[in-house]
Formats: sequence, structure tokens, C-alpha cells
Amino acid sequence: NSFTNGKIPARIKTRRDFLTYTLGGTAASVAIAYLFPKVSQGREISLETLCSLYPKNSRCENYLPGSVALDKDGKQIETNALLTTAKSGIPILVKGLPDNSVDYLIIQDGPKIAEYAINPTCTHLGCTVEWDLEKNHFICPCHGSQYDSQGRVLHGPAKRSLPLLTVVVKQNQVRLVAHKPAVDPR
Ligand code: FES
Repeated sequence: NSFTNGKIPARIKTRRDFLTYTLGGTAASVAIAYLFPKVSQGREISLETLCSLYPKNSRCENYLPGSVALDKDGKQIETNALLTTAKSGIPILVKGLPDNSVDYLIIQDGPKIAEYAINPTCTHLGCTVEWDLEKNHFICPCHGSQYDSQGRVLHGPAKRSLPLLTVVVKQNQVRLVAHKPAVDPR
């Protein structure tokens, strides 16, 4: 068993311990081979896959995922500059994904940029919602659905929260990644 490296750990005292340990190790090996077949077979995986699975891997130090976020005038956003004017609870409109869509960064207490952004596509029939500075929530111009600053429904006809995407802040850049965050924090 590769987990033992040829040595029996000190905590293995009985035959039962030994069986539990070796069977556990075998099960883990099978699970890894099943979940990450390319890793287990020693084949090269793309940097994108590697860094999404293991962001702390040394090869990922300079890897920048997704697309850089731009302000409404198309200028690259610098994290430090953004945070000097950002206000907690007030989303900031950005663009940058290859499909030219706009998204809203969420500003949390600190202020800091949340690890997820809101895609402003209304979940009723797909119109684009806008942030209303006076009312402090998103409003859909088509049939009036309203969402709070985290994209949760306040008033219908929409029934579902606004979709999210992943945000990575790295090297003074804000990066937009077009997939959903692993966990919806709402
Ligand atoms: Fe937004 Fe209908 S499309 S409320």
C-alpha cells in the first residue's frame, strides 16, 4: 500500500487497526483515481485544471484565471484603487468576460471584494436588472422584479436569485471566472 511507504505507523497496534488502515488507504487511492484519472495516471493536465483543483500549487503562483475585469469605460480595474472608493453593500458594475456581458462585483465590509459576482440576468424572463442607488436594490425594467444587494429576490414575478460567477483577486487585478462559485454563500 502506497500510504504506508513500507513502514507501519506507530498508531497501528492491532490486526484490526492494520486492516482499517490498509483498506482505508486503498479506498482513498481508488477514489482519487476515479475522480482525477489524469492525475492518477501521471498524465499532464492543463494549468487551468491544476490551478482550479489546487490553487496553492507552486505552479499556480502567477496563474491568472478567467478574464480581467474592466470598468464601464473599458479600463482595467486595479484592486487597490477600487477599494479606496468602494462602499460596503454597493455593487460595482464591471465587464470583461469574453461574451461582453456586464456583472456586478459585491463589496463586503472592509471594504473587500467578495469571491463571487452577480450576473444581472433577471431570472423571470431574462431582462437585464440594474442597481438602483436610491432604493438600494436591483430592479428589473421589464416586469419590476427586485433583488437585494446579494441578488436574492425581494419581489417577484422572479422566483430565483440572480446567477453568480466566481471572482479571483490576484496581483492587484480582479479576475472574472465564468463558472458558478463552488458554494453559493447566500
Ligand atoms: Fe425581469 Fe420579467 S424579465 S421581471
